[in-house]
Amino acid sequence: MIASTKSAPIRVGITGVGSCVPDTVMTNDDIAERLQTNHEWIVERTGIHQRHVAGPGVAASDLSVPAAELALKRAGLAASDIDLIIVATITPDMPFPATASVVADRIGAGKVAAYDLQAGCTGFVYALTQAYSTIVAGLAARILVVGVDLLTNYVDWEDRGTCILFGDGAGAAIVEEVPAGGFLSFELGNDGAGVEDLYVPAGGTRQPASEATVAANDHTMRMNGRQVFKFATRVMVTSAQSALDAAGFEAADVDLYVPHQANKRIIDHAVKVLGIPEEKVVVNVDRFGNTSAASIPICLDEMAEAGQLTDGVRVLMTGVGTGLTWGSALIDWSGGVNGGASA
Ligand code: UT7
Repeated sequence: MIASTKSAPIRVGITGVGSCVPDTVMTNDDIAERLQTNHEWIVERTGIHQRHVAGPGVAASDLSVPAAELALKRAGLAASDIDLIIVATITPDMPFPATASVVADRIGAGKVAAYDLQAGCTGFVYALTQAYSTIVAGLAARILVVGVDLLTNYVDWEDRGTCILFGDGAGAAIVEEVPAGGFLSFELGNDGAGVEDLYVPAGGTRQPASEATVAANDHTMRMNGRQVFKFATRVMVTSAQSALDAAGFEAADVDLYVPHQANKRIIDHAVKVLGIPEEKVVVNVDRFGNTSAASIPICLDEMAEAGQLTDGVRVLMTGVGTGLTWGSALIDWSGGVNGGASA
């Protein structure tokens, strides 16, 4: 799926962003106390120094609500101004109902439409695309998009190849009509042949939870790390380039690139091939690890805080994740009020 927004009847952008991560920080040394690994290996292979961990009793909605409230505040809106909530997550509060329903109730959004969207680490970009399309079609005016994941609940803490990678967090964005600029293009894709490269075997209808699935540890993540690494380095480049091509721009036209924060080596490879200089690339994987659907909106929140989302800034985002999915969105922030930077 690929499209430019050139011929759209209105401009649609992001007018506020927010994020929330749990207070508890787990360092590489903390993990090395329990497993055969070490800080140096983790930093060299991933760029990760630490991650935030929610811990028992904290669910996806608990992080989503503060992130959403901050995004609303920065957009100058009340929860009652929202008419649709999309929560991108693979780690919902419960198998059903949607975490979006919980968020809608807790922020006081009233009886708005609300649903979850599952596209792994690409979920936030998929959700932005849905929000954009829904507004352009005239079905909604203001949409709250949340990307949230607490994958530390799904990692096998005995598996040093996966547990070092993930952290918990939530990020949110308000999508609405803007006077100028806004989203310029989108590109989304998926290769279902890679389902078993990154998945949780049990807990769904294929293998419902049972004593046997628990005994087999089948409720934890399985990942073919090398395969996912190869996939991610390839599609991060092709997806970003496709979104640029669709909008008629080149890598040199990008002011800030926000890649999914999975592994610093994946990011380094992609930006080198794309030809985007390091100073334009947003990286926080060192502090948060891979927060899945929250990774890009947490970056956006930090960029807003740092005053980087000013008028005329062209931002390219690319997500890659389980599915295996990928997606990019190119946005011109000039129509998006202030991205929350001055709130
Ligand atoms: O959103 C997408 C989510 N997933 C990803 O982004 C994962 C993408 N993949 C990766 O980031 C990398 O494949 C990993 C970081 C997971 C692994 O790095 P790698 O350079 O591909 O290592 P490897 O799997 O090829 O393993 C090399 C060695 C192995 O030892 P042997 O077989 O050579 O003796 C592993 O057992 O490193 C070992 N190893 C570790 N050693 C110390 C694996 N994990 C660790 C560890 N500490 N944590």
